[in-house]
Amino acid sequence: MEATAGASLHGNLVVPGDKSIAHRAIMVAALAHGKSLIRGLPDGQDVARTIDSIRKLGIEVTSVSDSQAHPGDISIEGGRDRMHSPLDPLDMGNSGTGMRLMAGLLSGFPWTVTLVGDESLSKRPMDRIAIPLGMMGAAITGHGGVGSKCHAPLTVVGGNLHGIDYTLPQPSAQVKAAILFAGISAEGTTTVREATATRKHTEEIFKIAGIPISISGDPPGERPDSIYSVSVEAGDPSPFSIDIPGDPSQAAFFVVAATIIPESEAYIGPIYLGRDRSGFLEVLKRMGADLSIDAGEDGVIPLGYVRITYSQLNSTTISPSEVASLVDEVPILAIAAALAKGVSVFQGLGELRVKESNRLEGTAELVNSFGGDAHVEDDNLIINGTGSLRGGKVDARGDHRVAMAATVAALAATSGEQSIISGYQAISSSYPGFVSDMSSMLGE
Ligand code: S3P
Repeated sequence: MEATAGASLHGNLVVPGDKSIAHRAIMVAALAHGKSLIRGLPDGQDVARTIDSIRKLGIEVTSVSDSQAHPGDISIEGGRDRMHSPLDPLDMGNSGTGMRLMAGLLSGFPWTVTLVGDESLSKRPMDRIAIPLGMMGAAITGHGGVGSKCHAPLTVVGGNLHGIDYTLPQPSAQVKAAILFAGISAEGTTTVREATATRKHTEEIFKIAGIPISISGDPPGERPDSIYSVSVEAGDPSPFSIDIPGDPSQAAFFVVAATIIPESEAYIGPIYLGRDRSGFLEVLKRMGADLSIDAGEDGVIPLGYVRITYSQLNSTTISPSEVASLVDEVPILAIAAALAKGVSVFQGLGELRVKESNRLEGTAELVNSFGGDAHVEDDNLIINGTGSLRGGKVDARGDHRVAMAATVAALAATSGEQSIISGYQAISSSYPGFVSDMSSMLGE
């Protein structure tokens, strides 16, 4: 993919539906006896794999064809009694969320199911779910064995689960979700505790589908010793309808692009605006970005619009407790930091080493490929804002978020300079329409 710097962004943009919410809505709808309606699914491969896998479990998924229907609108005729053990392994492609949540869901059924993924997913740690799901009575095995970085292909032997009380050793909404999905098939109470807030989409979708959950504790981060906990009991969800809000992680590429490319002005939304996903907006405000938020109506799912205008940014420090709220936005925030005045320090990024690629090293390389100045020290990323970027050559290494952040860096480079980004096909996992949406904002 080639990009030339120079044009600014203008106009309104509706980004694709939120991927995290979509996975959860599809899986909960599969378990709910009756017809659920999900509108606004994103069209990337990750969510398509989750839809394929519930089909392989015997669930009927149909495209909605009413007068207001869009391509991302589906209905799901769900129910445990309709589900059966799949004939083939379930292929979760590139999606860590798909694989981990599906392992939790399958743990509740007395079947032996294999989950496979692509090369990148097969390198990602699965111990983090194999251990707690094992404590609940399921057996999750993979390459490497439990306790020594078990990897996909995973075999899930489920059934006869009992609740556990589990404190997450690392902040991970995927692990919380895997345990809660197993919890709705387990005898007794299942409780997950976390010291650092992670996204609450499982809790939100469970509420929408009428699964009783109880939440206690201060919101994590309010006090240094606060612990948030969420508990579920066994029970089936009810069918539900949902409009998936726009994905803030995809919006982030346009928000940052409009902030760092002179003369830009953009209005993006509706996007999900819960505080556990909005860390990037807080960081940009702190850096001096000219952005304002129009919050939508208060509901189970908080959403709203972001208005953004070009402005000069200052450096910032991101603390370890903020990372979960912007975990997927680090590559694009690093591009903003590279163009800011002063030295920015992003602390506590260890979890980025086990994303779709080693995103900690990859982000430093990304900034440096465009003439910036970034390096990694332990789990911290240090970016010396050089105030300008040059055209660059970068390999996204199969990581969709690195590819999209590289595009924004290429567009924000010195006017007229050309960049080449290889490995661009990675964006098909989450945002196949990214280039066309970006081109329309650039007036091309
Ligand atoms: C996700 C949680 C995050 C995030 C991922 C989606 C989710 O991962 O990076 O893109 O949907 O729960 P972790 O929970 O592993 O931090």
